[in-house]
Amino acid sequence: PPSAPGTPLETTVTGKYAFAFDIDGVLIRGGKPIPEAIEAMKVLNGQNEYGIKIPYIFVTNGGGKSENERCLQLSQQLQIEVSPGQFICGHTPMREMAEKYRTVLVIGGEGEKCRQVAEAYGFKDVVTPGDIIKDNQDTTPFRKLTEDEHNNSRLRNFAEVEIDAIFVFADSRDWASDQQIILDLLMSKNGRLGTRSENFDEGPPVFFSHNDVVWSTSHDLTRIGMGALRVSLEAMFKAVTGTDLQTIAFGKPQIGTFEFATRLLQQWRKETHGINEPPETVYFVGDTPESDIRGTNEFNNEAENTWYSILVRTGVFREGTKPKFQPKVTVDTVLDAVLHGLEREQ
Ligand code: G3P
Ligand code: MG
Repeated sequence: PPSAPGTPLETTVTGKYAFAFDIDGVLIRGGKPIPEAIEAMKVLNGQNEYGIKIPYIFVTNGGGKSENERCLQLSQQLQIEVSPGQFICGHTPMREMAEKYRTVLVIGGEGEKCRQVAEAYGFKDVVTPGDIIKDNQDTTPFRKLTEDEHNNSRLRNFAEVEIDAIFVFADSRDWASDQQIILDLLMSKNGRLGTRSENFDEGPPVFFSHNDVVWSTSHDLTRIGMGALRVSLEAMFKAVTGTDLQTIAFGKPQIGTFEFATRLLQQWRKETHGINEPPETVYFVGDTPESDIRGTNEFNNEAENTWYSILVRTGVFREGTKPKFQPKVTVDTVLDAVLHGLEREQ
């Protein structure tokens, strides 16, 4: 195909630096690409005046689908090929918990999707709120299962089941009933529904795939997300039991997520570009100061290379407010972010 104006015919891949992208509010909003994102991907793939190709990965807190499915969708939206080898979502690290917890309650997402994701991660026995309501309809006084939900839910006797852990994989579609069920388990003896422990400290642990209180989607203003459910659950637990609840969140800004991203990027650069050395600089482009910028800055203090935070104005962060965590630079769009890195490296 003819090359874009100003693009040299020969392109070379740089090993010196790389990009990592947040998705919602940077590349996508409400299922649609942010227009500059498509252009930004072209620049990364060599359509720039230097003919340089820059390796990149995606690190989103979002989820609710398998990595494969999400990459197919992202490929269509951004008009490039996105491989699971360059993609991490909020629940990707939960895969590593499949050996530790046998019977798990999975919360969130559309229909049976998150159960399927958890099973594909290797979890042996995956329960959904639907299964619990199917066994005892009185669990959630104001939620009746739809016909589909009823058919998909698995009938079992929960008086005989011990749930070892609770994983919030994606946003809850029904906060009231999901919170009721989580609360029942937290207050139970060893995760057995229908029981109550004396001091409310014998229930299973709760893991959230991320902690974003708000996120950027199709509405003009930010919308509440999984971190809001976490805050709500902790407050409710305190109100009901009088004791504090400790929950655990994965995703950005957790250092573990950035370590995971480092390993992914290393493998991706090696397998697709034959680069063995770590990059000197990783440019991380995000829209949420509390997760993207905070995580990048904190990881920069620990990592051997430079993690350079770039904040965009297309998502959660809005001009006129002071970001809680200061990026190295703030730009309008993801295209400006890519051009900033590219120019800075010349
Ligand atoms: O629910 C997803 C949202 O909180 C953030 O996704 O891509 O901005 O990390 P992302
Ligand atoms: Mg975002």
